[in-house]
Amino acid sequence: MMKNQKKIGILTSGGDCPGLNAIIRAVVKYANIKEWEIFGIPRGTDGFIDVARGKVQGDDLKLQPHGYDVPGVLQGLDILQFMSGSVLGSLSRGNPKDENVTKDILEGYKILELDALIAIGGDGSLDIIYDLAKKGNWNLVVIPKTIDNDVAFTERSVGFDTARNTVTQALYDLTFTAASHERIMVVQVMGRDAGHLALHSGIAGGADCILISELTPKLTEKTIEGICKYIAKLRKDRRKFALVVIAEGVQGLDNKKDPYIAETLANLITEYSHRLCLNDNVNYEDLDQVDTRATILGHLQRCGVPSSFDRILATVFGIKAVHLIEEERYNRLVIWQNGSVESKSLEQIMPMIKWCHQEQTCPSPVDPEGFMVRTALSLGIYIGESHFYPDNISS
Ligand code: F6P
Repeated sequence: MMKNQKKIGILTSGGDCPGLNAIIRAVVKYANIKEWEIFGIPRGTDGFIDVARGKVQGDDLKLQPHGYDVPGVLQGLDILQFMSGSVLGSLSRGNPKDENVTKDILEGYKILELDALIAIGGDGSLDIIYDLAKKGNWNLVVIPKTIDNDVAFTERSVGFDTARNTVTQALYDLTFTAASHERIMVVQVMGRDAGHLALHSGIAGGADCILISELTPKLTEKTIEGICKYIAKLRKDRRKFALVVIAEGVQGLDNKKDPYIAETLANLITEYSHRLCLNDNVNYEDLDQVDTRATILGHLQRCGVPSSFDRILATVFGIKAVHLIEEERYNRLVIWQNGSVESKSLEQIMPMIKWCHQEQTCPSPVDPEGFMVRTALSLGIYIGESHFYPDNISS
């Protein structure tokens, strides 16, 4: 028999992103209408440890609809959905290795007597929390979030759209200083394993070159020369500046991850351009003028007021999670598919996700033959020495 009144927990796990609070707000609002009890677990699964060790009591964690502690005439303002970050705090510490830690997490869940848990996380968190849920026999519903948009089986994760707007705006802003100084701006965009953010915002922000690890796993001499030749072509067409977007997942010439890959590439572009200029090739004669600067956008990409799409997605996902719990359809990932909200069984999808993690490959990378890559190519954007790239532009 279904229980009408439920006690549910909610937590945010992994890197934060805009829209987390909008999910929490939607869940709390709807659960409150149903007169369910909702517990906000602080700092990801670590909050359960605090409960197990008696540092916090269940009652301290109860969440109410927000807004009544805003002072003055703004009292009642439902501000939570507009704020980035997570009011619950988040954790990206990896799998708990210590068995006592796991024991305490499971114990904390038990003490709270939860009927279900809504975990908001990326694919790394999903993997960890799925294992905990199996061990503790939890009723789990997962909501995907990450600015990287690389959670498998969902077309969109909460946070991606806002980050895409942030990077697009940054590229627009950088265009004017780049143009004023006739410079090449190399911009490093987040996306540890996936290039969605770099590719989308590069297209929207008017980038001339976009390097993502799905197409350019590492820098090569050929790629750097390709960029320099592309710059030479732009200069011939009287565009003296350029925007080069590089996803942080692209490795350096030495096959290693480089936290300052934009800086490295900017220096290489200068060096190779000047070197090409020494060739007696009329096409490269003014490449000695090439001047580069690097910008690492960093964690600014995880900030900002969530876009309306992210707020809608967050809200729809939050409500869907509550519906699933109401129907007692547990152990599911809420997903966005064909412009609508759906869910998938974790039992079905986890083997593939776990295999990807084992093999250290991204569960949802950019499709090298997909329409976004083709769009970039059709605009004449240099995307590396991939086989799609028309020879006449790179030579
Ligand atoms: O997973 C999102 C992400 O923004 C990645 O693109 C990035 O590599 C990572 O988080 C950085 O996270 P942190 O600095 O919090 O470890």
